[in-house]
Amino acid sequence: MTTAADKDRVLIFDTTLRDGEQSPGATMTHDEKLEIAELLDDMGVDIIEAGFPIASEGDFKAVSEIAERSKISVICGLARANFKDIDRCAEAVRKSAQPRIHTFIGTSPLHRAIPNLTMDEMAEKIHETVTHARNLVDNVQWSPMDATRTEWDYLCRVIEIAIKAGATTINIPDTVGYTAPVESADLIKRLIETVPGADDVIFATHCHNDLGMATANALAAVAGGARQIECTINGLGERAGNTALEEVVMALKVRNDIMPYHTGIDTKKIMHISRRVSTVSGFVVQPNKAIVGKNAFAHESGIHQDGMLKNKETFEIMRPEDVGIAGTSLPLGKHSGRAALRDKLSQLGFEVGDNQLKDLFVRFKELADRKKEVFDDDIIALMRTGGDDD
Ligand code: KIV
Ligand code: ZN
Repeated sequence: MTTAADKDRVLIFDTTLRDGEQSPGATMTHDEKLEIAELLDDMGVDIIEAGFPIASEGDFKAVSEIAERSKISVICGLARANFKDIDRCAEAVRKSAQPRIHTFIGTSPLHRAIPNLTMDEMAEKIHETVTHARNLVDNVQWSPMDATRTEWDYLCRVIEIAIKAGATTINIPDTVGYTAPVESADLIKRLIETVPGADDVIFATHCHNDLGMATANALAAVAGGARQIECTINGLGERAGNTALEEVVMALKVRNDIMPYHTGIDTKKIMHISRRVSTVSGFVVQPNKAIVGKNAFAHESGIHQDGMLKNKETFEIMRPEDVGIAGTSLPLGKHSGRAALRDKLSQLGFEVGDNQLKDLFVRFKELADRKKEVFDDDIIALMRTGGDDD
């Protein structure tokens, strides 16, 4: 499916509104979902998984309206491996200029045991359901849920069936976040080499973060040949979440020297959507979260602040402006040094001599020992309450 011209293009499939919303407590209202979908469309997400239409009337309506409104993104809905789910999904995505049905079934021994299907019965079901979906839309994604714990031979067999039945994207979910990066790359590479027809479809990677390896696994899968990453804003998702969109997109941008792939994401829109998803889902972003955490571009220690004031590249590998943050911040705290204090004073309009700075620095440290962060008003108060100029 990928041509020579776009062989390095990685499609971004965002599932914030489906897998992300499945996080306990992350339910969003209809209007909030429409807003997030609009932001995703606007930032260049290739495919938006807008919901699970059979799950509820609300999900059906949200997927239908997103399908009708979206300008650029492909709009996808999720469906289990039965005709009722697939028909409902087709109806929900119908008004999209580019509708996709994503149908799945659990293929690992543990998951096969739930519907109590033999391997042959499940293979037949995959054939029937993918064929049915493909009769309704041209763009069909199929996922063997828990692929990374499915027997190799069976995984190859069912993927071949799905491709022959008309699937255009084969997604390989690491449903329980069990895989390690070296396995993730190897699995995709071997599947592409082994399964007949694999060259005619896009392979996708869908990683969960139970062991904190979702981003690494997704990038490794790309190295192995996957050309679609499934991810969510802020890594929202079931249990420990999914691959974080902002992490994979920025990793591919910043380390393009060793990962020569590109996405269509306008990275300057990342911070705004991260904040909106945090607000509407009620999931606070941890301060040290990569890319979008409050501290991702903040430097408190004296050595770091001094380095940053001399050359930003000393301690920053990407520009905050590239992810939509106004700039680096040098919060003042007990680890800060004289250079940062002088810089802050100058920003506040105070030019001080060396002796005055020495005195202020002593009093600043006393204050910083008591407070977690020293704010502009604290510095102004320090200036007002003493410190003779030299
Ligand atoms: O994690 C998973 O396996 C899923 C599937 C529905 C693709 O979310
Ligand atoms: Zn998932």
